[in-house]
Amino acid sequence: MADEDSFYDDDVFSDNPEYNVVSDSGSDEDKLIHAKTQIAELKAELMRYKIPPLLVGEVIELLSYDNVIVRLKNGNEFSVFVDKALDSKLVPGDEVLLDQKSLSVVQKIGLKKNYDVNEFVIIEKPNTTWKNIGGLKQEIIEIKEVIELPLTKPELFKEVGIEPPKGILLYGPPGTGKTLLAKAVANSTNAVFIEIVGSELVQKFIGQGAKLVKSIFQLARDKAPAIIFIDEIDAIASKRIEVGTSGEREVQRTFMQLLAEIDGFKSLDNVKVIGATNRIDILDSAVIRPGRLDRILLIPEPDKDGRKAIFEIHTKKMTLDKSVDSEIIVKNIKGFTGAEIRSVCVEAGYFAIRENRKHVFTDDFLKARDKVLGIKKKKNALSTYID
Ligand SMILES: Nc1ncnc2c1ncn2[C@@H]1O[C@H](COP(=O)(O)OP(=O)(O)OP(=O)(O)O)[C@@H](O)[C@H]1O
Ligand SMILES: [Mg+2]
Repeated sequence: MADEDSFYDDDVFSDNPEYNVVSDSGSDEDKLIHAKTQIAELKAELMRYKIPPLLVGEVIELLSYDNVIVRLKNGNEFSVFVDKALDSKLVPGDEVLLDQKSLSVVQKIGLKKNYDVNEFVIIEKPNTTWKNIGGLKQEIIEIKEVIELPLTKPELFKEVGIEPPKGILLYGPPGTGKTLLAKAVANSTNAVFIEIVGSELVQKFIGQGAKLVKSIFQLARDKAPAIIFIDEIDAIASKRIEVGTSGEREVQRTFMQLLAEIDGFKSLDNVKVIGATNRIDILDSAVIRPGRLDRILLIPEPDKDGRKAIFEIHTKKMTLDKSVDSEIIVKNIKGFTGAEIRSVCVEAGYFAIRENRKHVFTDDFLKARDKVLGIKKKKNALSTYID
């Protein structure tokens, strides 16, 4: 420890008006008392700066009354002792403060287990309906069978004596309607829709991923019937993760928790899981093993009928000129996904607005198509998407 008294000989404070405590008025005694008080306050403040910071950790397991396993935020786990002065009893899941050197538990900072998952997930009753989805007829039937039917008519499955899948994995190129399908099925079953994004789970909530997964499933059970939609599920369920760095271990833990949660509920439990990915090629097969998301459904780019239906959906509210020939437009958007078709419609509307028109013409759509195609080509050049 540094010599504290010498500190006050320093004139670091004398230049600072805030510390010029001795005023010109008043008796010498007053000045002395004032100065002493100020010194005591500064001394106390200085002491605070000298206290080393404490680490934040989580109690994982109790080994004995004064020995527990804690996990630090970086994922490392230690067996440590509990400070004798700590009077509250620890339970796994407690958030605690640890001494930096010995990692002894010196303080409990409350049970963080009940933190508000509502902040981290999107919960809604979606208003997307089957009518908002163009094409994908076969896919809709399959989703209805796997998700809708068990939620709305569970007795059917009991009578027949089969267990419906706990969930489904939707995969395919971006913008083909995976999110849309998940929302529509939530709407049609009146289920609460809980959406989480895999990449956010591991990037935003470092050290919390596994805990969050647990809380999300708990939330789903509380709010059941519920659909948990895990977008970009590949971010937590990728087979290419080499468990080396703490970040990778964290992803691994989150993934293990996800599997444990899926395994932990019964398939008729009113909670269904829908995963979505553009990268089925990197997905760990553990997640699609029987008893988990064992239905796998490709959501492809729309065919001709699909494109027509999607075009109709997105132009429904637009003011089209009578001369608009949808056949020509649909022919010209071959290879476009649902999201791209929507962009074409929006862009076509812009072409009309720019020319101060209220009606949209075929030509607006064709120009919009060229524009979207340009963006699409640029994107494809950058894309790492593997079909
Ligand atoms: N089949 C479709 N019918 C109608 N609109 C569609 C269809 N597919 C996509 N769209 C439009 O594109 C938008 C994006 O679609 P969605 O979010 O469902 O794609 P996604 O498959 O989930 O893509 P990503 O893989 O990028 O998440 C939708 O909001 C909708 O406007
Ligand atoms: Mg999506």
